[in-house]
Amino acid sequence: MTVGIYFATTTGKTEDIAERLHGLLDGAESPRDMSDVDDLNEFTNHEGIICGIPTWNTGADSERSGTAWDALLEEIGSLNLSGKKVAIFGLGDSSTYTENYCDAMEELHRFFKKAGATMVGYVSTKEYTFDESKSAIGDVFCGLPLDEDSESDMTDARISQWSEQLKQEMSGI
Ligand SMILES: Cc1cc2nc3c(=O)[nH]c(=O)nc-3n(C[C@H](O)[C@H](O)[C@H](O)COP(=O)(O)O)c2cc1C
Repeated sequence: MTVGIYFATTTGKTEDIAERLHGLLDGAESPRDMSDVDDLNEFTNHEGIICGIPTWNTGADSERSGTAWDALLEEIGSLNLSGKKVAIFGLGDSSTYTENYCDAMEELHRFFKKAGATMVGYVSTKEYTFDESKSAIGDVFCGLPLDEDSESDMTDARISQWSEQLKQEMSGI
């Protein structure tokens, strides 16, 4: 199974996590910055796609990441990604932005789902402390939230557990 890792970032934290996940997932290709991706049909080269998105536009209904992802959402929604497995991770700050924790994940999740992708990599909200998140659907997040600002000591365990989950859900990585 070929797996692509894609990210967008403002201060580099989402890129750093993309690199760390790449180190944990032998079969995945080197992470690509969405600012360097000219043609979204590139997604169709992969059977699995892992996408990283930070949240910067606090409280916004749309374009929540403040990165290259925002301008691409509609186009992602118009692709045909049926048969592809897609997992999302998000960077945020559960302490300072506890009412909007990792909100941008939900937006990306919604447009990939619209494209027909099979969404994987959901994570229980149980191990997290936050007030509200648009990315929490019932008692699961629609991806893996990470907090390098106030919980960086938890990141290693979170990404290693998630990469094991993805190995199951995207069999063949
Ligand atoms: C002005 C500003 C607004 C932010 N808004 C949010 C937010 O609404 N929700 C959240 O979870 N994190 C928020 N953050 C935290 C960032 O998402 C976090 O620092 C993230 O790791 C940045 O990732 P990046 O370095 O890849 O851009 C905000 C940070 C700043 C400085």
